[in-house]
Amino acid sequence: MTSRPLAHALADAEQKLTAAGVWAPRSDAEVLAAHVLGVGELDPAAELDTAAAAELDRLVARRADRVPLAYVTGWAELGGVRVSVGPGVFVPRPHTEPLLAWGLERLRGVSDPVVVDLCTGSGALALAIAHARPDARVHAVELSSVALDFALRNAKQQSDAGDTAIWLVQGDVTDPALFRDLHGTVDLVVANPPFVPNDMEMPPEWTEHHPPIAMYAGADGMVVIRHVVLLASRLLRPGGHVAIEHGDPQVHAVAELLRDTFTDITNHPDHHGDPRFTTAHRRV
Ligand SMILES: C[S@@+](CC[C@H](N)C(=O)[O-])C[C@H]1O[C@@H](n2cnc3c(N)ncnc32)[C@H](O)[C@@H]1O
Repeated sequence: MTSRPLAHALADAEQKLTAAGVWAPRSDAEVLAAHVLGVGELDPAAELDTAAAAELDRLVARRADRVPLAYVTGWAELGGVRVSVGPGVFVPRPHTEPLLAWGLERLRGVSDPVVVDLCTGSGALALAIAHARPDARVHAVELSSVALDFALRNAKQQSDAGDTAIWLVQGDVTDPALFRDLHGTVDLVVANPPFVPNDMEMPPEWTEHHPPIAMYAGADGMVVIRHVVLLASRLLRPGGHVAIEHGDPQVHAVAELLRDTFTDITNHPDHHGDPRFTTAHRRV
């Protein structure tokens, strides 16, 4: 059996991914190689046997077709929780980590908190909160049945591994009756809803591979966020907290919507320093 030095395979993969316009070619090549080898960290002196080299070539070719990295590997992570993802479900992004951290900070000192994750997708935010706060009762809602199936599988995997179970429902955040039994009782609402304006240009990872329902939200990107704000104001107890992810174009519109029923409205940057989520407290 012949083998190939990892360093050569990585250089080759990086070159192919660069030519395809992938924005982090070296890092993606390393993630794919680690995935093929089944290791958390690559040994620079490693060798790939024939089967592993062929598998890496296959995965690199998929990524070069601009299939999202997480669809190629089948997983993504948020808050230290690994969730399964694939076609039909949004890939949780590192951009959401600061929102998660903010939410968990607000729950400090609140025992048995009630949390709602609106537009949960793979369930990543809800599951990361349940992982960090085993005493929390976490509810989550998702409209797409494909995404909900991923969320249900991810939730089962986490509860089988010992995390507190979360409560998942299929539903629409525009439905005024959604979570009616929770009105006025919730400590924290988190949401990463669709917020891309319909005519915004996006890389092929999104335009060709992500489900449109997970991304697009009308001409201004606000169609779903408007309902998220309304629902959060019904769900939260006085003084309860909300955190909503959005894009650069929605910074002012989100703050404006929150003004009626919320106070301490603050915009926060993501890990790149771009405005990424807005937080507020329900007026007492
Ligand atoms: C940007 S993705 C975020 C998913 C997840 N929160 C995350 O951060 O990975 C938005 C999600 O909202 C869901 N969605 C879109 N419209 C919805 C609605 N009206 N009610 C509930 N969920 C909705 C989409 O199917 C998608 O899963």
